[in-house]
Amino acid sequence: MHKDLEKILYTEKEIEEIVSRVAERINKDYEGQHLVLVCVLKGSVMFFADLARKLTVDCRLDFIAASSYGKSTQSSGNVKITKDITADISGKHVLIVEDILDTGNTLSYIKEYLSGFSALSVKLCALFDKPDRRKKPITADYSGETIDDLFIVGYGLDYDEQYRNLPYVGVLKPEIYQ
Ligand code: XMP
Ligand code: MG
Repeated sequence: MHKDLEKILYTEKEIEEIVSRVAERINKDYEGQHLVLVCVLKGSVMFFADLARKLTVDCRLDFIAASSYGKSTQSSGNVKITKDITADISGKHVLIVEDILDTGNTLSYIKEYLSGFSALSVKLCALFDKPDRRKKPITADYSGETIDDLFIVGYGLDYDEQYRNLPYVGVLKPEIYQ
């Protein structure tokens, strides 16, 4: 385990099982359809890559980035699109793939933004969900695991751009960010 972590919350194997469960539901719901999977950079990169490889529905992959978090562990509520998608999503089913749904500031902004292009549907998929912290009325159509209000890193999730490459998800020692 990385020295900056208090404990491992999900091992590689557990994450794989969670991703498989989510993929199964998506495969069932979108069977016979074409999907545009939108990865919310950078946190969702590992989840996106693993999820996409478990999907049996035809899909196109696209990427979007938004900023709201800096070095702090709190969402600022001030969201800005910093990298836009390139696909034409009008008349398409869109599934936004995010690492974690926290206050909901980022995802509600992205969802509203992508809903402005006449897509057939725009849904949300989040690997982790922290419902206790929600500030915007938004729910994930697909969510992997509901977690307590802990700051987690690894498997794409960072603190100050570190720890994204850890293959597991762990809880950061509070002294690292306090
Ligand atoms: P909001 O609050 O806008 O935030 O829903 C969503 C984004 O915040 C980041 N986030 C975290 N990142 N560990 C992280 O590494 C966490 O526990 C955590 N909680 C929220 C994440 O980037 C997400 O996209
Ligand atoms: Mg993120």
